[in-house]
Amino acid sequence: MVGYLIDRIMIIFLLLTFNIYGEDSGYQIYKNSCAQCHIEKTTEFVDNLSLKAPPIDAITRQIKYHYRKKEEFIQYLVDFLSQPDAEKSVCKPCIKRWGLMPQIDIPDEEKQSVALWMFKNFK
Ligand code: HEC
Repeated sequence: MVGYLIDRIMIIFLLLTFNIYGEDSGYQIYKNSCAQCHIEKTTEFVDNLSLKAPPIDAITRQIKYHYRKKEEFIQYLVDFLSQPDAEKSVCKPCIKRWGLMPQIDIPDEEKQSVALWMFKNFK
């Protein structure tokens, strides 16, 4: 019984640390691979005309509108980053304004981490 409980606690502990790690590294990946084009948040101080790409908070809202579940959200993002395509886009006006986003060459695990970070930190 006690052994069983300890096993459970270990599993929960591992899941929690994994999650925290996933999100932290997600932010780091955003900084390294996305921030040169995407700012994090839309604020009244942002000069809309100088934006190079839609802000992350706005895109996240748009993705959640189409893919509400975490798994679907992550899958959409991994897929889009691997092979951007107007057909898959959740923001056609973005493509009209900025042109299609270039493919991002990072490992799938990093795409998943950045997707998880977006899903958890923006509404
Ligand atoms: C070189 C600039 C650049 C980089 C780097 C970049 N993006 Fe983008 N991104 C864009 C542009 C421009 C658009 C708008 C056009 C579009 O939607 O394809 C866009 C659109 C998007 C969209 C909306 C796609 C859709 O459905 O139309 C998502 C999601 C996204 N970016 C996520 C990311 C993430 C996550 C990263 C980092 C891993 C990243 N981008 C890196 C330029 C960039």
